Amino acid sequence: MSEFVTVAKIGSIPANQGATFTVGDRLVALFHVDGQYHAIDDLCPHMGASLGAGYVEDGIVLCPWHAWRFRVCDGTWCDNPKLKVANHEVRVVGDEIQVRLAP
Ligand code: FES
Repeated sequence: MSEFVTVAKIGSIPANQGATFTVGDRLVALFHVDGQYHAIDDLCPHMGASLGAGYVEDGIVLCPWHAWRFRVCDGTWCDNPKLKVANHEVRVVGDEIQVRLAP
């Protein structure tokens, strides 16, 4: 199992926005929603856009290219809940936001 990695500081991601970070060999989209942080794979499974750059509303991120919608809390594709992108564990330690990659 991978270790937690610090990716950002509290306050560096405005509410209802995301940002993209490299964690190990993956790109991870980290979102700040309702005072909590959530991490999912950054690459949209449609054509590879960066989900971390998407518009966030009501806990859903819209892919910036063709507006596929994913729940930031668990990566579920809203239009077909049988499919999802990986979601990753997040914790806050002091002022650091840390992510541990899913297996
Ligand atoms: S690349 Fe994300 S919806 Fe098309």
